[in-house]
Amino acid sequence: MTPPIRPQSEEMRVIGGPGISRSGRRFERIGSTVSPALATESDARRTFYVETYGCEMNQYDSDFIASRFLEEGYAPAPDPESADVLLFNTCSVRQGAEDRVRARIRSFAGVKARHPDMTLGIVGCMAQRLGERLGAEERVVDLVAGTDTYRDLPALVEEKRERSRAARAENPEWSDRDRPDPALIATPIDAEHTYAIRRHPTPAEGPIAFLTIMQGCDKFCTFCIVPFTRGRERSKPWREVVDEASRLVERGAKQITLLGQNVNSWCDDELGFADLIRKVDRVPGLERLFFTSSYPRDMTDDVFEAIAECRTPIEYLHFPVQSGADPVLKRMKRRHTVEWYLRRVEKARALIPNLQLSTDLMVGFPGETEEDFRATLDLVREVRYAECFMYQYSPREGTPATKLVDDLPEEEKARRLSELIALQRGIVGEILRENVGREVEVLVEAPSKKNPREPFGRTRERFMVVLPEDSARPGDLVRVVLSEVSGSTYRGIPVETGARWVS
Ligand code: SF4
Ligand code: F3S
Repeated sequence: MTPPIRPQSEEMRVIGGPGISRSGRRFERIGSTVSPALATESDARRTFYVETYGCEMNQYDSDFIASRFLEEGYAPAPDPESADVLLFNTCSVRQGAEDRVRARIRSFAGVKARHPDMTLGIVGCMAQRLGERLGAEERVVDLVAGTDTYRDLPALVEEKRERSRAARAENPEWSDRDRPDPALIATPIDAEHTYAIRRHPTPAEGPIAFLTIMQGCDKFCTFCIVPFTRGRERSKPWREVVDEASRLVERGAKQITLLGQNVNSWCDDELGFADLIRKVDRVPGLERLFFTSSYPRDMTDDVFEAIAECRTPIEYLHFPVQSGADPVLKRMKRRHTVEWYLRRVEKARALIPNLQLSTDLMVGFPGETEEDFRATLDLVREVRYAECFMYQYSPREGTPATKLVDDLPEEEKARRLSELIALQRGIVGEILRENVGREVEVLVEAPSKKNPREPFGRTRERFMVVLPEDSARPGDLVRVVLSEVSGSTYRGIPVETGARWVS
């Protein structure tokens, strides 16, 4: 499937430029929700730990889950092994993604045996997709809870805990491999969940915040699992969105990323996504607004105009195309042609100065000919994306594309992917060099990974920039000149120096 929101899928590769990820976006754990430093071992309260896989929607959900457990009086655990409640927030984007999570979960069998009161739960897209099957197959799991259950998770955990205690009281020989009680399964799709807003701050909050404004998908592209894991489209009412955005800014957020499987399909009665951009733009103290992922057909002129006229939307648009060949787009059920897409790109660039674009591209979809693939290369040359999320097709159980004949050899798919990556790498290099010498604004996000004394941030086009040691703090907006570029990261030379940069 294509990742609607950029996941860390194993086949997905990201080439340079103003990338979302600094790590290469491989399928991997993308983090725990709480900082271990903030967890106190002496705390007598029950503790929780959330390990997150997948896309930004899952990251947001994990923060929401953490806020619910904090609200209920739990404390963050310093590591997964010591947690009383250990949750894996999972991704179903590919079979490999699921297999790795299963292996990780099974590795906790020994920990569970030593800590019988631990509740081990699977949440997220895998839980939603597999439900009872997952509970039956993974014996170490106590709870399988789908993507719309997070408000109730503490209660579900307590329910399961009581059941397990009762089972253990009846059978002292109880063990995970041979437990008498099945996992508790909760996978309803509940529109109300989408409206839940995060009221309790989580310790991990910083200048960059995510805010889910809609979930689900009605589009059913033939390769994609998401409509089956996230249900139909549901939008959060605009007042809730603005309220949550205001709270995030009050707690230190400078940039908010609005999230949704098709974020620009958001609606609230007569209001559309462009109206929402205008409303969030007016949140006092917000500096930057970004959104992902978009559905091309819903990218109206009104959205481009809202981006152009508002202060906070950044000059970066994720505009997924998947293929540069009409026959392939048709089989994917993407509902647009290449020509239509190119006209949209033209319009966006005409309205939004300095706009950089990113996209998702899949090679080797069933029936893709060499000519189709060449058309994709032509599209990439024409649009000149600053970033591409590229991957090769593999069938996903339960999606309509599995009924198409997938007879292109894997080696050929891999060859096409390599050629596409090489082309994209060259284009990104050109774009990065073209921008050397520009004076830009950088929002400092965090210390750089290589040298924590060097602040790391991004421009309004999401170019990555490292600043001189101790020159700024997370949340600072700094004007810099983009000097040399190494890999896909610039060095930024501050154009003003002042007391506020001196640590
Ligand atoms: Fe999947 Fe929906 Fe995006 Fe299509 S539009 S790729 S079905 S999430
Ligand atoms: Fe995201 Fe993976 Fe689900 S990409 S929506 S966590 S299938």
